[in-house]
Amino acid sequence: MATALILLAAGKGTRMKSDLPKVLHPIAGAPMLAHAMRAGAALAPERVVVVAGHGAKLVEDAAKAVNPAAQIVLQPRQDGTADAVARAAPALEGFTGDALVLYGDTPFLGPKTLRRMVEARARHDVVVLGFEAADPGRYGRLVMVGEQLERIVEFKEGKDEELQITFCNSGVICANSRTLFDLVAQVNNANAAGEYYLTDIVGIARAQGLSATAIACDEAETLGINSRTELATAEAAFQARARAGALENGVTLPAPETVHFAFDTTLGRDTVVEQFVVFGPGVTVEAGAHVRAFSHLEGAHVSRGAVVGPYARLRPGTQLAAGARIGNFVETKNAEIGEGAKVNHLSYIGDARLGRGTNIGAGTITCNYDGVAKHRTEIGENAFIGSDTMLVAPLRIGAGAMTASGSVITRDVPDDGLAIARSEQVTKPGMARKMFEILKKRAKKS
Ligand code: UD1
Ligand code: CA
Repeated sequence: MATALILLAAGKGTRMKSDLPKVLHPIAGAPMLAHAMRAGAALAPERVVVVAGHGAKLVEDAAKAVNPAAQIVLQPRQDGTADAVARAAPALEGFTGDALVLYGDTPFLGPKTLRRMVEARARHDVVVLGFEAADPGRYGRLVMVGEQLERIVEFKEGKDEELQITFCNSGVICANSRTLFDLVAQVNNANAAGEYYLTDIVGIARAQGLSATAIACDEAETLGINSRTELATAEAAFQARARAGALENGVTLPAPETVHFAFDTTLGRDTVVEQFVVFGPGVTVEAGAHVRAFSHLEGAHVSRGAVVGPYARLRPGTQLAAGARIGNFVETKNAEIGEGAKVNHLSYIGDARLGRGTNIGAGTITCNYDGVAKHRTEIGENAFIGSDTMLVAPLRIGAGAMTASGSVITRDVPDDGLAIARSEQVTKPGMARKMFEILKKRAKKS
């Protein structure tokens, strides 16, 4: 059966106290909306519709970044989750399968849970995802009679005895898309909040003799984020899972609680990640690499046996070949570092390619930016760049070439050539002693 996802992402998220729409607040380097979309992608949906409202343009960009085929519909006023779902109807005109409603603020749904929901649809017209809440708080309550879900009671509407119920609504609902839009069209806003509650469709469905049920999942999967505190809790939960996953997959983390992962970090086995390492998005590390303490990596690929840090910063477009070394206080960006090449101390290497076995001396900088445009530096194999060389790009340094330390290199250097570009040294014998005497006399006078 074909599936369509409807992601609700129009809300402002007042409790976030933010100018950024709530669903764009990041967890592990990706907006929570992207997490929700990735979760839903496990069902291989035929269509994806995102309902946007607050910050719609930003929400659209974030959604398209995850799935360029996602359709964006507007909910001009946030009149409630049923109204939001209704806005998706025109986009799904002609679609005949099941529709699954996900909330943009519920990022951690697991693929197994979503599959179980779709399976339960074979036996029921409406399937809701519920969870046993440790603290039911403001969640909607699921009123079950046997296997049937009779209705959902919103926190604001709940009578005392209903609010005793701990089986809560995650917000995820699945129904045939035509049934869903049919039910949603019958929801009214005669309630405490004056909102169109999506949750009302269950009572309406039951009154029409349709069957509804709720399946349960772990509370950790349905964590809904409404405040910065919950955002921090979600981040912590994500990190705890990522660390446990890395350890399980054969990565050594001497201090796991200090390592921060992105949503897409991939680490090969026998990799060691030392204390206080931060992974931004887009990092892959092959087997047996060593990322030393206090390093920051994003958009980088680290090959087998490479060593990074301590205190290294790998920025997007960095590719370290096998056995390459990036040492302390080195920044790389858009740089291919060849096999076994070394940039060990205090350097900036940007928009560059280094051949295998090349050694970059301490303090070397690729001057890649002239204030207007970026330029490339190409260095061949087994070159030796002397300490404190300024490589003024665009520039080519041949294989086996050398630069004298302290040089400002502005012209290409051929293979095996030595370039010296610094002023000649002048040495004056005895002059230092004389200078000291003069200076001391001067100091006494004043
Ligand atoms: C909702 C459910 C509640 C459930 C809880 C789980 C309803 C009426 N209540 O409550 O039963 O326990 O989620 O987290 O559905 N949104 C729109 N347009 C709107 C309103 C909301 O797109 O007009 C989006 C929001 O951006 C958000 C999601 O829908 O991503 C949920 O909205 P929110 O206001 O957070 O609902 P809750 O009050 O948490
Ligand atoms: Ca919510």
